[in-house]
Amino acid sequence: MYVLGLEGTAHTIGSSIVTDSGEILSKVSKTYKEKEGIHPREAANHHASHVIKTIKRSIDRANIKKENIDVVAFSQGPGLGPCLRTTATAARSLSLSLSVPLVGVNHCIAHLEIGRLRTEAENPILLYVSGGNTQVIAFSKGRYRVFGETLDIGLGNMLDKFGREKGMPFPAGPLIEEKAKQGEKLVDLPYSVKGMDVEFSGIMTAALNKDAPLQDLCYSLQETTFAMLTEVTERALAHVRKDEVLLGGGVVQNKRLQSMIETMTKERGANWYVPEAEYCVDNPAMIAWTGHLMYDSGTSISVEESNIKQKFRTDEVEVTWR
Ligand code: ATP
Ligand code: FE2
Repeated sequence: MYVLGLEGTAHTIGSSIVTDSGEILSKVSKTYKEKEGIHPREAANHHASHVIKTIKRSIDRANIKKENIDVVAFSQGPGLGPCLRTTATAARSLSLSLSVPLVGVNHCIAHLEIGRLRTEAENPILLYVSGGNTQVIAFSKGRYRVFGETLDIGLGNMLDKFGREKGMPFPAGPLIEEKAKQGEKLVDLPYSVKGMDVEFSGIMTAALNKDAPLQDLCYSLQETTFAMLTEVTERALAHVRKDEVLLGGGVVQNKRLQSMIETMTKERGANWYVPEAEYCVDNPAMIAWTGHLMYDSGTSISVEESNIKQKFRTDEVEVTWR
């Protein structure tokens, strides 16, 4: 069986084809690049003008014909309305024109499932830290559940905003990581863990108001926010009695965050995993693969049910494949 998956929740439009065995035959993405943040309408226009080429290329690169496609999967949410609508429209037309079933995939769950495919992790807690999202997710009692999440903005967006205020180009995350390596002094910043949830806006404001060298601010931002994430992840591990941590999202490429997670998991006798960078960030293979798992376990939707879900909750999904 060949599943074609479309990702288009935010700045990336992509198409990928996977097989039953989890082989990723092709993966083609086009990313809308902006200097600052993201403009949803413009990103959607970008996706609309590239989606057909992207689909065609993914079929060519997989070395199959469009008639060979058995299922079309797409990112149904959460994400930016205009981007989701454009992607869903493309998925619906493709499914109708090929007369094949349609599967709507939750983007956050797809980050976890691609990590299970690409690493040795079997039953992990996912620490998903991207531009727009920050969540700790685990499978428990038949559903993927969110054990902790940001109450305001995603950590990546916070780092990018801080960087913009300091004159750094977008995305600032990798530059902040470089600067932080020269940091020596820990600047006192609020440590915002509320129960299992975290908050980042106040930390950013506090950092912007400090009169300290940039490298120390970058260092302190990382130490504070990464410690918060590590603490929440550790408590989730204990709570659901799991012994694997899987990382996902663009921010987890940060080596300092990885080393904190490594130390924490080692101390608990647990393991940690991170997929290749191309599978950490938004990618269409994660949608195709999760679509495959869903379809294979009996889940598909009609066109009438394929409305987008901007606030698609992780625990809304009935997990039929585990
Ligand atoms: P979402 O998946 O929520 O739609 P997104 O697509 O914007 O968000 P990703 O592509 O997963 O997010 O990741 C991009 C983010 O990762 C940016 O905010 C960027 O600053 C951050 N980032 C990338 N590399 C690093 C790094 N080494 N350290 C910290 N942050 C990083
Ligand atoms: Fe994502």
